[in-house]
Amino acid sequence: MGRTQTFADVAGPNRVAGRNTLLAQVATTAGTGSEAGIRSLITDPDKGTKVAVESPHMIADLAVLDPELTYSVPPAVTAATGVDAMAHCVEAFTNRRAHPMIDGFARMGFRLVGKYLARAVRDGSDTEAREGMMLASFYGGICLGPVNTAAGHAIAYPLGTRLRLPHGLANAIIFPHVLAFNQPVAVEKTNEVAEALGLGTGLSQQDLSRVAHGFCRDLGIEMSLGAHGATAPTCRSTRARRMPTAG
Ligand SMILES: [Fe+2]
Repeated sequence: MGRTQTFADVAGPNRVAGRNTLLAQVATTAGTGSEAGIRSLITDPDKGTKVAVESPHMIADLAVLDPELTYSVPPAVTAATGVDAMAHCVEAFTNRRAHPMIDGFARMGFRLVGKYLARAVRDGSDTEAREGMMLASFYGGICLGPVNTAAGHAIAYPLGTRLRLPHGLANAIIFPHVLAFNQPVAVEKTNEVAEALGLGTGLSQQDLSRVAHGFCRDLGIEMSLGAHGATAPTCRSTRARRMPTAG
């Protein structure tokens, strides 16, 4: 990164002037998959929004995925970050801009989450489960580049900035709603996701929302927005304020 550039200078796509050193990225959670991509998301505390810096200069020369580095991640963080990794895969998979090549990475990612996330939450030193989740996160990171996320992340971002919820937690709370909402326009792919996560197949929208909610809750995630400090808006503020969206 050019040494004279400020954060404001580099915010947005392709504004990093360059870099004059090698970049090694070492994953310490299994969630964002940043080591696979060219984006960084940073909260602007003044505006209460997430700002993305995107540049090919941010691609890692060396990415380290060592499951032992995640042994000490607490169960709650393991659960929330794991759902984030899964959301990257699912939102790319069911995306209007989905691509068959990226679908393959997405499938590998959410299948690994279905197989290993609960195990990693139960036993943080389960190397096989931690390894599976690290790969799921990496595959999710690959999905972010060419396709990216959709409604789930867009709705979750304001929860992160306004309620100060961790990113993965905000995504987990939104996940069942968006999965069920999108089901009618992505029936087969949603079925595939549901089956991989052990939710069942051929579910109605209502049942899908309920069991996806249960999937997150069973990981120990508190799914009630009220429990995280959200209050119902008044009629006036509902009309006057619109939630910002992000890609
Ligand atoms: Fe995310």
